[in-house]
Amino acid sequence: MTRVFNFSPGPATLPEAVLRQAAEEMLDWHGSGMSVMEMSHRGKEFMSIHAEAESLLCELMGIPAGYKVLFLQGGAIGQNAIVPMNLIGRTGRADYVVTGDWSKKSAKEAAHFGEVRIAASSEEGGRYTRVPAQAEWQLDPKAAYVHYCANETIGGVEFFWTPQTGDVPLVADMSSNILSRPVDVARHGLIYAGAQKNMGPSGLTVVIVREDLIGHAMPITPSVFDYKIQAAADSMYNTPPTYAIYIAGLVFKHVKSLGGLAAMEAHNRAKAAVLYDFLDKSGFYSNPIQREARSLMNVPFWLKDAALDAAFLQGAQARGLVGLKGHRSVGGMRASLYNAMSIEGVQALVAYMRDFEAQHG
Ligand SMILES: Cc1ncc(COP(=O)(O)O)c(C=O)c1O
Repeated sequence: MTRVFNFSPGPATLPEAVLRQAAEEMLDWHGSGMSVMEMSHRGKEFMSIHAEAESLLCELMGIPAGYKVLFLQGGAIGQNAIVPMNLIGRTGRADYVVTGDWSKKSAKEAAHFGEVRIAASSEEGGRYTRVPAQAEWQLDPKAAYVHYCANETIGGVEFFWTPQTGDVPLVADMSSNILSRPVDVARHGLIYAGAQKNMGPSGLTVVIVREDLIGHAMPITPSVFDYKIQAAADSMYNTPPTYAIYIAGLVFKHVKSLGGLAAMEAHNRAKAAVLYDFLDKSGFYSNPIQREARSLMNVPFWLKDAALDAAFLQGAQARGLVGLKGHRSVGGMRASLYNAMSIEGVQALVAYMRDFEAQHG
């Protein structure tokens, strides 16, 4: 068996140890005689898997008392509607900060449910290369919340500071950088993330929400997406994505065994430095993102001549380096360096890039 280095933005590479454990437990989980996939979500076996996953997530992220963790479905794109349906009704207005395609999409969807203002944007000619400084933000004190995307997966723009929003709750889309480094949960009203980058398979959406923000859903909110109903039912108002929750629990345990989020940060900084240092010295490849906002998780880069893109991808594939094609909206390449990507993977990518440049530069 040969495993590739998978740089896909998501669904993404998972820790091999987790996949091996899942394989071992596939037919018979802990002597239950069943696969996790076959268990009732209300049986004691799955309830213990669910509770352990939740408690490991709280421990890893340092989630304080007064917050609920919800394991939902519908993805982060679902939350683009579910967040406003649950939160905007308190004042009818919300502020959005736009730093890339994902936050722009979030703002557009939210506008179906109330008055949405763009409090700050770094869009310049359809491109995003930075995070607008806090001084540029024009915040509405009557907003029900302020939304930002902590890491723009397509553009490769990441926040390395927590926005200040006073008494207005801060909402973060952390789909592509959750668990990559410590975050101050207490400074957020709500954090959401699809699982398929740093937590597990697709199908699971994690929502961490401060309790006082629960219970304000608009009357049109479907019950399954009402945080109050899901919180009261321990995320089991409907059948939860049981297998995805099980794998996420294994990933959480694995991250804990490696030293938790501080260790993940050191690992992720070291990996990203290998690639950015190489890009900075190269005249053949480029990355236009401002240094202070360069994502540790998603590194877009462009070849000097886009006519070489296809040959670059083909050669990468031949070396077992996959998932490097940039998002169709921006072109070029993108290397996603989530927690489960090893430094050896990044070194192999840089070695290939150096060889490709020597051949075509
Ligand atoms: C930052 C961010 N937000 C939202 C999404 C959409 O997630 P989903 O497809 O799970 O709804 C993605 C997916 O790549 C993302 O990276």
